[in-house]
Amino acid sequence: MFNFAQLDLPLIQAPMAGGITTPQLVAGVANHGGVGSFGFAYSAPEKIHADLLMAQSLTSGPINANFFVFSPVCLPSDQIQVQAMQALRSLGVGGVQSLTIPAEPFYPSLMNQLEPIWQARPAILSFHFGLPPEGVIEKAHALGIAVGISATSLAEALAIESAHADFIVAQGIEAGGHRGQFDFLAKDGALSTLELTAQLAKHCRIPIVAAGGIMNGADINTALAKGAQAAQLGTAFLCCDESGAPPSYRHYLLHKQDRSTTLTKAFSGRLARGIENTFTRTMQDQVTLPFPIQNTLTGPLRQWAVEQQDAEYQSLWAGTAYAQMRSMSTKDLMQQLRNEIGQASMTL
Ligand SMILES: Cc1cc2nc3c(=O)[nH]c(=O)nc-3n(C[C@H](O)[C@H](O)[C@H](O)COP(=O)(O)O)c2cc1C
Repeated sequence: MFNFAQLDLPLIQAPMAGGITTPQLVAGVANHGGVGSFGFAYSAPEKIHADLLMAQSLTSGPINANFFVFSPVCLPSDQIQVQAMQALRSLGVGGVQSLTIPAEPFYPSLMNQLEPIWQARPAILSFHFGLPPEGVIEKAHALGIAVGISATSLAEALAIESAHADFIVAQGIEAGGHRGQFDFLAKDGALSTLELTAQLAKHCRIPIVAAGGIMNGADINTALAKGAQAAQLGTAFLCCDESGAPPSYRHYLLHKQDRSTTLTKAFSGRLARGIENTFTRTMQDQVTLPFPIQNTLTGPLRQWAVEQQDAEYQSLWAGTAYAQMRSMSTKDLMQQLRNEIGQASMTL
C-alpha cells in the first residue's frame, strides 16, 4: 500500500477537475518522484478508464484518482431559477444565449465512476467535499489502494480519521479551486494552510498533506516543518507544458499577476478561489442555483469563453500565490522543486 516514505519528493500534484490533469501531466509528476493526480469530479467512467490506462502506460509511479462527494440536491423554486438565469443573461455576452436550466441527474453516480478504479487500482483514491459512502474505504483497502480526503477544519479531519482513511489533505484558505468544506453552509474558520496543518498534525494520528498557496521548495519545507508529511500543489502545475489549461487561462496566470484572487460561488454554486474577472465581479451578489446545478448551467458560457479566448468569463481557478507561477515542462518543474527543497533545507 502507498506510503509517503516511498516518495522521492514529498509532493502531490493536486487533482484538478476540468481537463487540467492530463495523463501526461500525471505521469510526468509520478515519473519524477511525486504523486500525479487526476481530478475526475464530473468525468464519465469510460473517460476515467481511458485516462488511467494511458497514465499507467506512461509511468509505474504513484497515481491518485480524485472524486467529488456530491450531496443530494434539487432545483429551487421557479422564482429562484428565473433570477439565476436572468443574472447570467444580463451579462449580455454571446455565450449566455444557449443557457438552459439543467435537468436530472445533476451529478454523476460515484459508484459508477469508481468501477474503473477497482479495475485499474491506482495507488491512491481521494475525495473532496466529504466522506465517501460506507464501504468505499474498506473496498479500496482490500484492493491495496490508499485513501485521502480533504479537510478544512479539525472537526472534518477527525471525521476522516474515524472513517479509517489513510491521510488528510489540509486545505487552507489560500488554496485555488473549490473549498473542500463538508457542509458549505456551516461556519468556515478560514484557517491558513500553515495554521490548519499545524493544528491537524497535533491532533491527528494519520499523515497530513498541506495544500494551499505552496509554490516552491521553500514553501514545501515550511509545510513539512509544521508537521505535514507532504505538500499538495495545484496552481504551481497549471502552466506546465503538459497541463490541459487553455491558452487564455495560462495568459492570465502568467501576465495578469496584479489581480487578486477571490472566492466565488457564481460559477458552480459552491465557493471556489480564482483570479478576479468580469464574471466574478458582475455576479458577486447575484442569485445562483445550488452546486453543482449552477456548474452545469454556466458550462456553455465557460465553454464559449474558452473558444473565444475570453478569460473574463472563464473560471480561472488559482491560489493566492499564483503570481509565483512558472511555465515549463513538468520534468523541469519537478527538478527545480527538488533543488529548492534541497537548498532550503541546507540553510535551515
Ligand atoms: C484548477 C484547480 C482545480 C481543482 N480541482 C480540484 C479537484 O477536482 N479535486 C480536489 O480535491 N481539489 C481540487 N483543487 C484544489 C486542490 O486540491 C488544492 O487544494 C489546491 O490546488 C491547493 O492550492 P494551490 O492551488 O494554491 O496550490 C483544484 C485546484 C485548482 C487550482
